[in-house]
Amino acid sequence: MSNTVFITGVTGNIGGKLLITILDNDPDTKIIALIRGESAAVAQSRLEQALRVLSPEFDTALIGSRVRVICGDITQHQLGLTDAAFDKLASEVTHIIHSAAGIQFTLPLDCARQVNFVGTINVMSLAQRAAEIGQLCNVAYISTAYVCGDRDGWIYEDESVAPRQFSNTYEQTKFEAEQYVRTLMPTLPITILRPSIVVGDSQTGRTLTFNVLYSPLKFIYKGIIRALICDPATPLDVVPLDYVAKVAHHILFRAETTGKTFHIVAGAAEAPAVGSVVRHFLNYLGQNLTGVNERVPSLDQSNDGKITGNPRTLQLMAVFDPYLKVTRHFDNGNTLTALQGSGITLPPFAGYFDKLLDYCFAVNWGRTLRHAA
Ligand SMILES: NC(=O)c1ccc[n+]([C@@H]2O[C@H](COP(=O)([O-])OP(=O)(O)OC[C@H]3O[C@@H](n4cnc5c(N)ncnc54)[C@H](OP(=O)(O)O)[C@@H]3O)[C@@H](O)[C@H]2O)c1
Repeated sequence: MSNTVFITGVTGNIGGKLLITILDNDPDTKIIALIRGESAAVAQSRLEQALRVLSPEFDTALIGSRVRVICGDITQHQLGLTDAAFDKLASEVTHIIHSAAGIQFTLPLDCARQVNFVGTINVMSLAQRAAEIGQLCNVAYISTAYVCGDRDGWIYEDESVAPRQFSNTYEQTKFEAEQYVRTLMPTLPITILRPSIVVGDSQTGRTLTFNVLYSPLKFIYKGIIRALICDPATPLDVVPLDYVAKVAHHILFRAETTGKTFHIVAGAAEAPAVGSVVRHFLNYLGQNLTGVNERVPSLDQSNDGKITGNPRTLQLMAVFDPYLKVTRHFDNGNTLTALQGSGITLPPFAGYFDKLLDYCFAVNWGRTLRHAA
């Protein structure tokens, strides 16, 4: 039996890269992608645009031949599909990957909840229907390692402990959604995947979004942020997009992974420290800034430095602050066990950081991409 994968979030970073990875590796697999848009043609062109950014050499003709685009919205009952379309879909799918989400940290709680929690309930209702009338093998729910909120120390894969506090509505609503998904695990073949902070492709630096790691670096580059008030030894768990997609793809099609949770993270041994990331960045700027008006910003790395900047920047920076302050390590034992013999390994951060930065500067921290869209 050939696989039919239903996937959400393909116009985004992780869903898009995962779609490319499936098309590249599984020639017999059919894909059905749920995309927002006024028509299938609009949705398909949005998909092509996103995949061209992620992988310019990708053959978009494959979309017509191997990907069926369905217009829909995860916040709608039955994903916005008619009863007949919903049941047809449920009867066809063997695998479901739910990657769509609202990942902005500043969404009001009710908006974040609508996409991340209600949207997940709606995708899981497809899984329930597929289990009733179809041939469902696996449901991969893309969660986040940061459902741990403000917890420090070791964070384990199969535990789901409510933190004292969440840093933002994104973490809170992703936690709520994961809790809901966990209630279905006894009755559905569900795998939970929790990436940490996802950055661009380790080979090309390419990414559709420039948040979390990128924003503080941009503020430093622009000279807006003159000090980071944190312990420079704080680990920053970042993973490149291509690694996340390869791991997710590898886990998705293995029956023994259902019922488990997998951290797709750098882990204690590989996560770089904030101080080394900033030092590397300043060195990069020193070697690469050549314009007459460009200069390497000075950064006061003492712990009692004052952050200065306009109120909007300070507000934005406050959003990222929790990720620079908490010392925590994500256990990834389940993932490393699943990857044994696969040949998939995490590239070291220092080996690909320059590629991320080259891409940032090539597209002006995403501005060029937004104008092209
Ligand atoms: N980025 C990270 O660092 C990171 C880390 C850990 C976990 N994750 C998780 O990974 C998953 C993917 O994140 P990402 O980085 O790929 O995010 P992204 O680039 O912002 O993509 C989000 C995707 O969700 C889609 N979407 C949003 N609302 C929708 C709706 N109402 N109906 C249908 N589709 C909708 C977007 O479609 P449109 O193009 O129509 O907006 C887009 O395709 C999320 O579940 C996120 O929580 C991300």
